[in-house]
Amino acid sequence: MADTDGLLDARTFTGGERPATGFHVKGAHAQDWGLQNRLARIFRPDNGRTVMLAFDHGYFLGPMAGLERIDTNIAPLVPQADAIMMTRGALRTSIPSHSTAGVVLRASGGPSVLRDLSDEHIAIDIEDAVRLNAAALAIQVFIGGEHESRSVANLAKLVDAGQRHGVAVLGVTAVGKDMVRDARYFRLATRISAEMGAHIVKTYYVNEGFETVTASCPVPIIVAGGKKLPEIDALTMAYRSMQEGAAGVDMGRNIFQSDHPAAMLAAVRAVVHDDAKPEEAHELFRERSAGSAAS
Ligand code: 5RP
Repeated sequence: MADTDGLLDARTFTGGERPATGFHVKGAHAQDWGLQNRLARIFRPDNGRTVMLAFDHGYFLGPMAGLERIDTNIAPLVPQADAIMMTRGALRTSIPSHSTAGVVLRASGGPSVLRDLSDEHIAIDIEDAVRLNAAALAIQVFIGGEHESRSVANLAKLVDAGQRHGVAVLGVTAVGKDMVRDARYFRLATRISAEMGAHIVKTYYVNEGFETVTASCPVPIIVAGGKKLPEIDALTMAYRSMQEGAAGVDMGRNIFQSDHPAAMLAAVRAVVHDDAKPEEAHELFRERSAGSAAS
């Protein structure tokens, strides 16, 4: 029991016009405290941005280049990431449990790269996600794909489970080989995910009209890196994405397939968090990678 002798009277009832509890993640102001807290483990409270390191590719591609050994290739990079995106198998087996990065768990799966990738199912129980301290669950949405309808239903089911437990859901825009990747398609796909309740949407950058994709999506857009590019090109894409309204990147191959993954991650951080221009960030990459075999 607290000592109640000499209690001071409350007297400071003013302090600015805006509520001190305003929330920094787009579209999440009306969410419950737990879900907001989880989103804040992904998006930095000072700028609402994130650098998410994606290494979930093995769930349909197996041990691709750069992901042969997650414990040795990826785990050392994790302290530099705001959030990490991977399967529960990779998390449990290969990532130290003292990591502080926000955990974004791959929650869909089924087909391998040898089959129709849109034929996915929900591949995790919300209870296990909570046990793993997940901040968000990531699920692929195949707009225009063979199993479009099921993938949207999967997203909706995951949002229901996520809302019940205060876990966010990341809708991942999947692009089939034959689909046109333009702003019109990405406006459609990202908006559907947000309307179905996704709290974050991941998509690809497009050179024309990307700002219309970010403007018409009521939740934060984060940008996938895509196939490995020269570092300066990947940094330019990240820079343009941020300038055109993205809230961050969810980048995999352009980091872990670089000859200097840690240097590349530092350069991406400079673009996302410090508004570094691509050339400045590339200079940082060169400095950090100089004289080391793989850093
Ligand atoms: C795979 C994914 C990847 O995590 C995503 O594509 C990001 O990785 P990359 O930057 O290598 O494209 O969602 O389905």
